[in-house]
Amino acid sequence: MKDVRFTKLVLFVNSLVPLALLLFDLYRKRVGANPLEFVTRTTGMLALVFLVISLAVTPLRSTTGLNWLIKFRRMLGLFAFFYAFLHLMTYVAFDRFFHLTTIPADVLKRPFIAIGMTAFLLMLPLAITSTDKMVKRLGGRRWANLHKIVYAAGIFAVWHYYLLVKSDVRLPVTFAFVLAVLLGLRLLAKFYKAPNVPRTTN
Ligand code: HEM
Repeated sequence: MKDVRFTKLVLFVNSLVPLALLLFDLYRKRVGANPLEFVTRTTGMLALVFLVISLAVTPLRSTTGLNWLIKFRRMLGLFAFFYAFLHLMTYVAFDRFFHLTTIPADVLKRPFIAIGMTAFLLMLPLAITSTDKMVKRLGGRRWANLHKIVYAAGIFAVWHYYLLVKSDVRLPVTFAFVLAVLLGLRLLAKFYKAPNVPRTTN
C-alpha cells in the first residue's frame, strides 16, 4: 500500500457521504413524518456501523495478514465518534431543546438513553487520546490498554440499540453477534499471538 495518503482521503470523503445524503434529505424534506426520529436513527446507526467496522480492523488484519488496514483504524474510530456526537447533539438540541435539566426524567422514562450515554462517554477518552501526541505521551502499551475500552463502548452501544427496539430485535441481535465474533477473535489472538504482526497504534 504505497499511496496511503490518497486512500485516507478517499476513505475520509466516503465517510462523509452519509452525512451529505442526510443533509440533502433534510433539505428536500424527505425525512418522513418525524424528522427528529429520522435524524436520530440515522446518526445512531452510522455511529454503530463505524464503531463495528473500526473494531473489525485488527481481527481482519491478523487473519488476512493485510497489515496496511491498521492505517485506517483511527479514522474509522473517529468517524464513529463524530456520528455519535451528532447523534447526541440531535437528542440534546431537538429532543430536549437544550433543557439539560429534563434529561434525568427522560432517562427514568427511557433507560436506554442512559446506556447510550455510557457508550458515548466510553468513546470520549478514545477520541481525545487519538492524536499522535497523546499516543506518545501515554506510551504505546498504556494507549493500547486504554483503547480496549472500545469493546465496552461497543457492548453498551448494542445494548442501547437492543433496549430501544420495540418488537423486531433481529438487527440489534445481529450486531451483538458480530461484536461477539470480533471480541472472540481478539481473545483468540491474545492466546495464539502471531509473532510477525508488529504492534502499531495508527
Ligand atoms: C450520547 C448519548 C445517546 C443518546 C442520548 C442516544 C439517544 C437515542 C435516541 C433518542 C434514539 C432514538 C430512539 C427511537 O427512535 O425510539 C437512539 C437510537 C439509536 N442509537 Fe443512540 N443515543 C446515544 C448514544 C448512542 C451511541 C454512542 C450509539 C452507537 C455508537 C448509538 C446508537 C444508536 C442506534 C443504533 C439507534 C437506533 C437506530 C435505528 O433505529 O435504526 N446511540 N439513540
